Amino acid sequence: MGPRHVAVIMDGNGRWAQMRGRPRLFGHHAGAKRVREIVESCPGFGVKYLTIFAFSTENWKRTQSEVAGLMSLFKRYITGEAEALRKNGVRVRFIGDRVRLDPKLTQLMDELEQMTAENDLVHLTVAINYGGRDEVARATKRLARDVAAGKLDPEDIDVETLPRYLDTRVLPDPDLVIRTSGEARVSNFLLWQSAYSEYEFIDTLWPDFTPEEFSKVLARFGKRDRRFGGVKA
Ligand code: FPP
Repeated sequence: MGPRHVAVIMDGNGRWAQMRGRPRLFGHHAGAKRVREIVESCPGFGVKYLTIFAFSTENWKRTQSEVAGLMSLFKRYITGEAEALRKNGVRVRFIGDRVRLDPKLTQLMDELEQMTAENDLVHLTVAINYGGRDEVARATKRLARDVAAGKLDPEDIDVETLPRYLDTRVLPDPDLVIRTSGEARVSNFLLWQSAYSEYEFIDTLWPDFTPEEFSKVLARFGKRDRRFGGVKA
């Protein structure tokens, strides 16, 4: 069986642009075009949930012009893709800490979530200002508030409790995490949720990642033997 939830670290946009003698943002624009194709291919491949890493809590360390360019790309992407996403049955959600984002961007994010809330064909989750450690810290803060308010007994906290406070609370755990561009790192993506995920690190740069290659990666997943710490069934 193919994976139901695929998470993707879309790496390699900068190098893709550099190889062409173009600015890094040119690569991010090419990467954004790929997002559409990959999302549209999901129903045909049986992928119900797609989660993509667009901007990490560490990405603020990039130059001011790259950060600003990415933020305006997100705004333009949301505005430009909203109607197609709604019509195509895609439910969009955003994860990450919104506090540091431009209010104009968070407003567009809220609107897109609302206007696609009835959709159920594909669940697209976009991680913006997301970090796994930051998410766990924010979740713990909310959990501690519930304890302080007497709504939660510390004795009742177990591995089922904490994920109810994560940004991903309504999503299943990813079955497969794909990282493009040859880097074999997790980079703070879905730390809690990927405890039993399969990983695929592939050399292709994100702007070159086609639905055809996606289907090959998904087929390899189908051949894997997942045991979740147990023994073969
Ligand atoms: C990593 O490549 C990519 C990013 C930090 C940005 C990802 C953003 C997009 C693909 C834009 C579109 C997304 C949406 C949701 C509209 P890199 O810059 O680290 O590349 P490098 O490792 O070659 O430098």
